Amino acid sequence: MQTTENIRYRFPKDFWWGSATSATQIEGAADKDGKGKNIWDHWYQTEPNRFFNGVGPGTTSRFYDRYQEDIQRMKEIGHNSFRLSISWSRMIPAGRGEVNQKAVYFYNRVIDELLSAGIEPFVNLYHFDMPLEMQKIGGWTSREVVDAYVDYAATCFRLFGDRVKKWFTHNEPVVPVEGGYLYDFHYPNEVDFQKAVQVGYHTILASAKAIQAYREQQQDGKIGIIISLTPSYPRSRHPADLKASKIADTFFNRSFLDPSIKGEFPTELVDILKEEGYMPKMEKKDLDTIRQHTIDLLGVNYYQPRRVKAKEHLPNPEAPFMPDRFFDSYEMPGRKMNRYRGWEIYEKGIYDILINLKENYDNIECFISENGMGVEDEERFRDENGIIQDDYRIEFIQEHLKWVHQAIQEGCNVKGYHLWTFMDNWSWCNAYKNRYGLVSVHLEKDGERSIKKSGQWMKRVSEQNGF
Ligand code: BG6
Repeated sequence: MQTTENIRYRFPKDFWWGSATSATQIEGAADKDGKGKNIWDHWYQTEPNRFFNGVGPGTTSRFYDRYQEDIQRMKEIGHNSFRLSISWSRMIPAGRGEVNQKAVYFYNRVIDELLSAGIEPFVNLYHFDMPLEMQKIGGWTSREVVDAYVDYAATCFRLFGDRVKKWFTHNEPVVPVEGGYLYDFHYPNEVDFQKAVQVGYHTILASAKAIQAYREQQQDGKIGIIISLTPSYPRSRHPADLKASKIADTFFNRSFLDPSIKGEFPTELVDILKEEGYMPKMEKKDLDTIRQHTIDLLGVNYYQPRRVKAKEHLPNPEAPFMPDRFFDSYEMPGRKMNRYRGWEIYEKGIYDILINLKENYDNIECFISENGMGVEDEERFRDENGIIQDDYRIEFIQEHLKWVHQAIQEGCNVKGYHLWTFMDNWSWCNAYKNRYGLVSVHLEKDGERSIKKSGQWMKRVSEQNGF
């Protein structure tokens, strides 16, 4: 057992140690206790072969029924904070209108159970799970859905805000844009740049309006957004590569970062949209709303960087308009890979993000809200005692934490580190393909849980506040 004497990387007092999850990915009970359908329930019913091994969101890890034992396990591995999301379609089955009292009961119990275990709940309102009834009227392309979302958010603040002091309006808002309207990996799997722009715009507007509602209720916690940041690295210092990398950064990072923190969209983005004729539909006061209601706290999700080079061939003018008509991605020779998931591992990326926030975003208060290593077929690492020996994950976390530590030494305003994720969970079309948990979920054994080696390691790190 490590002792406090040999801690080389010590984190600031009250650092938030924990993990992140989302409702659709862990709750299960998709049809239970009055929950309405969301787009994932619907998509699975209509196209089950879209999902890895044909596994849908119906049962997932059954947190809905097993939350008490799961929260005890969080406590056991040293969590002092934990992110969950509320399922909009569980709370308000039709997306607007009547509130489901069984959902209120469930989330109240979860929040109370966390608090009595000494774990602070961080609550996110939207993690890719549009209620089906809202999708039927256009999902995020529709202004009516923005209003419905704000009512839902205000309801949650009213019901749970006495105990929840960290709120997030969205998780990774770029993903529904990319997945649902550009690259065909989320429902409604359309390819339509104009709709993609509208979805992104409405998401930011909905976030600002929810923040406004939170402050109008005179709640005394913090409210923010969780953004996935993929720092863009150019292939060379050649001006064409630099320009390509800057455009990728504008589309995939600054499009959400700037309005959330600075209250305005990047002019480079607006210029492209105007020039190409893809401006979203807006109403008169929207930009004031966005300007006036910026976040208190930023969650940073970081998995991998984006390697960019100048476009080598002119885009086909007949092809649908896509952001990548301005740049190409490339595989940097010699890059380090997570060979169990196929993503690049570049630990310093996390530091570059934090320094950028310090230098260009007023050193906003932030925390790492997701970082993690997915592993396919992780059962092969289970030893004779039933423990998953995931030394690769320990190394992954440790190397990222060293860079977070360095950023803090240099004055970055980082308050915590949440891993993706607490226990193996169902992940959209990838279902249970890639495992990310500190705790394993044995699907063949009725979802039996066991703490992985990384979970034991995280326990020591959290309890010692360093390693
Ligand atoms: C994150 C999402 O970006 O990636 C999670 O917020 C998701 O919801 C995670 O589960 C891992 O994705 P995948 O495709 O590797 O299972």
